[in-house]
Amino acid sequence: MTRLTIEATDNAKQYQQLVEQHGSPLLVLDCEQLVTQYQQLSDELPGVELFYAIKSLPHPAAIKTLDALGAGFDIATSGEIELLRQQRARPRHTIHTHPIKRDADIRDALRFGCTTFVIDNIWELEKFIEYRHRVGLLVRVSFPNPDVPIDLSRKFGCRPEDVEILLQKASAMGIHVKGLSFHAGSQCPDSANHVYAIQQCKKIMQEWQDSSGKLLSVLDIGGGFPVEYIEQVSDIDTFCQPIRDELKSLPDHVRVIAEPGRYLSAPAMTSVATVMGKANRGDRVWYYLDDGVYGSYSGQLFDHAIYPLTVFSDLKQQESAVLAGPTCDSIDVIAENLDIPPMEIGDLVVGKQMGAYTSATATDFNLFARAKIVAINLPPSSDMDSSVIPFPA
Ligand SMILES: Cc1ncc(COP(=O)(O)O)c(C=O)c1O
Repeated sequence: MTRLTIEATDNAKQYQQLVEQHGSPLLVLDCEQLVTQYQQLSDELPGVELFYAIKSLPHPAAIKTLDALGAGFDIATSGEIELLRQQRARPRHTIHTHPIKRDADIRDALRFGCTTFVIDNIWELEKFIEYRHRVGLLVRVSFPNPDVPIDLSRKFGCRPEDVEILLQKASAMGIHVKGLSFHAGSQCPDSANHVYAIQQCKKIMQEWQDSSGKLLSVLDIGGGFPVEYIEQVSDIDTFCQPIRDELKSLPDHVRVIAEPGRYLSAPAMTSVATVMGKANRGDRVWYYLDDGVYGSYSGQLFDHAIYPLTVFSDLKQQESAVLAGPTCDSIDVIAENLDIPPMEIGDLVVGKQMGAYTSATATDFNLFARAKIVAINLPPSSDMDSSVIPFPA
């Protein structure tokens, strides 16, 4: 995809209708696209159980859609548990993956019915002594990935060489560790780090079996499956092929699970913003939209993502322009140095691939109202209205 696509004004009609009905700015969540993404990833990773990483897009319609497909859920906070509870998702089909938890977080998750938790150090392990008869733990191992914009082994995960001592301590405390987990980094350009991490985890599992006689029966290969923003990435088949090959070498008793977020949610949501003002500044036209980097485009800062944009015009003429967000801060700029046809106040700007880490990290700065999420194409079994479903407070 390129940063900017210019389409005929006719193509704006579908978005204009939604804006007339629901207002602007909007995020349009297409649940059918979520289904497609889930099915594609399931096909590419046969035998791997998928637990949707709720943090990427914590929206009721996404939960309903994925629950209807039989997906599990990766939860990290009591807020995410509450969202699942409201949607009546199956508690047994959840894993709590935050490596650092308060006792109240653990109790909330247990009360909900989640029994799988992640730890990566001795202090976290000790928190489970009193719950040892009710839980099975995964030890998160770090596999740093300097090639990715979001290296999730920087803040969490123990070194591969420190796993055995944790396993010994858990054993001495009578706490059941059922497996290992890792996150190879988000938006990975290729799957080399996944493959390396699987190889290392296989080695750790084998060494533990040799030294203790105990089996580790779960391997959680995390998330990291990439989507195309403005730079081309491996297609999902090319990405998953080496992972599939490596997983074949695991012993039969190992159950493999994954925690995809971005791959499922990013392509499912589209941003629709409206030009609310314009100004000539120097030799460029500044267009001020009603959504920006403090809102739906927050992923440009937090997630290092640059979203493909579409504007609508039948004019051939182009001029140098800036697209800015609505707040008073000058960091609130979506794109500079764009060559686009002149736009009028009221025209629409559409952002694609905007499901993951967008509304999830939007702020209320300036008390500018966040984009309303409109869910479309909800599963037929869903008891929700297929219109506006508010973002959870
Ligand atoms: C523990 C954990 N699992 C899964 C994910 C989802 O990763 P991705 O969106 O790259 O698939 C994240 C992202 O932050 C995470 O921290």
